[in-house]
Amino acid sequence: MDIRTVKTQPFDDQKPGTSGLRKAVPTFQTPNYLENFIQSIFDSQDNYQGQRLVLGGDGRYYNRTAIQTILKMAAANGVGRVLVGQGGILSTPAASCLIRKYQAFGGIILSASHNPGGPEGDFGVKFNTRNGGPAPADVTEAIFAKSKEISEYKILEAEDINLDQQGETKLGEMTVEVVDAVEAYADLMASIFDFDAIRNLLSGGFRMVMDSLHAVTGPYAKEIFERRLKAPTGTVQNGEPLEDFGGGHPDPNLVYARELVETMYGDNPPDFGAASDGDGDRNMILGSKFFVTPSDSLAILAANAQLVPGYAKGITGVARSMPTSQAPDRVAKQLGINCYETPTGWKFFGNLLDAGKVTLCGEESFGTGSNHVREKDGLWAVLFWLNIIAKRGQSVEEIVKEHWQTYGRTYYSRHDYEEVDKDSANTLMDNLRSAFGNLPGKQFKGYEIALADDFSYTDPIDGSIAEKQGIRIVFKDGSRIVFRLSGTGTHGATLRVYLERYEPDSSKQNQDPQVALADLINIAHEIAQIKQLTGRDEPSVIT
Ligand code: G6P
Ligand code: ZN
Repeated sequence: MDIRTVKTQPFDDQKPGTSGLRKAVPTFQTPNYLENFIQSIFDSQDNYQGQRLVLGGDGRYYNRTAIQTILKMAAANGVGRVLVGQGGILSTPAASCLIRKYQAFGGIILSASHNPGGPEGDFGVKFNTRNGGPAPADVTEAIFAKSKEISEYKILEAEDINLDQQGETKLGEMTVEVVDAVEAYADLMASIFDFDAIRNLLSGGFRMVMDSLHAVTGPYAKEIFERRLKAPTGTVQNGEPLEDFGGGHPDPNLVYARELVETMYGDNPPDFGAASDGDGDRNMILGSKFFVTPSDSLAILAANAQLVPGYAKGITGVARSMPTSQAPDRVAKQLGINCYETPTGWKFFGNLLDAGKVTLCGEESFGTGSNHVREKDGLWAVLFWLNIIAKRGQSVEEIVKEHWQTYGRTYYSRHDYEEVDKDSANTLMDNLRSAFGNLPGKQFKGYEIALADDFSYTDPIDGSIAEKQGIRIVFKDGSRIVFRLSGTGTHGATLRVYLERYEPDSSKQNQDPQVALADLINIAHEIAQIKQLTGRDEPSVIT
């Protein structure tokens, strides 16, 4: 075996963010940059020698190059076997599925999620642990600590592996197994959902479109919807993963999934439309001329879980990230189960899922999932909706409106101010923090502030504490404004303002959310001095 030990110097910016290490492609192409981070992952792990590792990515530019490097480093570092998705492809939920199925010690997923790709786009490396979920904070901190003191890395001198052909090859003493990227995941979906009912729905005139936005879910969606569920060919649009996502922004929301939105709001729209993001963990659900907010989606899945074979026995609890609306809380209350409020980031759900405290979880950032894997899962959410629709025989709009009538409507919107100056964004947050003491009791446009704080979370399982997770301003009637800085951007800072208001009166549940939330939007501007500090009058993205 020809193992080379290469001298290197630390980079000071390899601190993983909300979801792994995410940087522009040219940064990852800096000599030793990728290698340092990968070696830091191995150096932070104990007892992985001889064990299995799962490896794959969303197919974006630099995916294949990075995979070849990581395989050679894994071989040099004593990994026993690497399961790599064919063509280097694995969606994030499929990687989580494989880690669990084959009891790997972890997985390396190459993705910058919904950020654009291509030579000038973004790239990312995520490390998932044995449970299949994103590395928790103690692990990412250990990786970061290693990255600050690294002086050398190990790599095998060898030819590249053929990633396109399934089967086993040796790389030094390590076995590389190129596996079908789709099969295990599609089997898992078939074990959870009522495929017969969905097949009947899709052959009975119900029209759906799944937009994979030229990202990773194309092959998964074609296998599941077109082959196993017999939806017509063409049901999956933009289904060919491209290295630059066709120049698009693979983020399933009303702004970036424009082609789908135009179809669903155009003439003679299909009954159902869905999209997923770069690495397949996010989802957007649309009915004919109708948008389901991610927060409502989680609440509706929880309320209808008994219709899905995999959850027919009931759900133990639900969890949502703090900025997600309180709609799921109302369902949990009715079901007599707990609803946990965690910081933003899927990793915070891991302990609750592992301990069996929750079955379903979700985030306002278009993520929904369950205990079937330890990642949010875009196609799973789409199948869950189709299963509900098949069983209830109602349209998306009817299901959502009936839900509002039963539980009340939670008007919700997120306003993003992208690429604002970092210092100004920090000043805005600091100003809010210093204003806390004076805010409770103050009135704004008839809304009285009941609580203002910086969200802090104590994990109920391991007692770990996460502080400064977003500023909450809660009003007496339960309405909320939350301010947070994004942890996934790569340019400047992104200020997120989350707004919600509860409306129990069914005669007032059909307003445009921007109208229903207008007062709260103005209050947010006033309290945070958004215009004065960021120079922006208007958000750049509204979801
Ligand atoms: C990633 C994580 C999500 C999280 C989101 C927040 O997608 O996987 O769990 O909700 O980032 O992103 P932000 O930009 O708001 O920090
Ligand atoms: Zn993603």
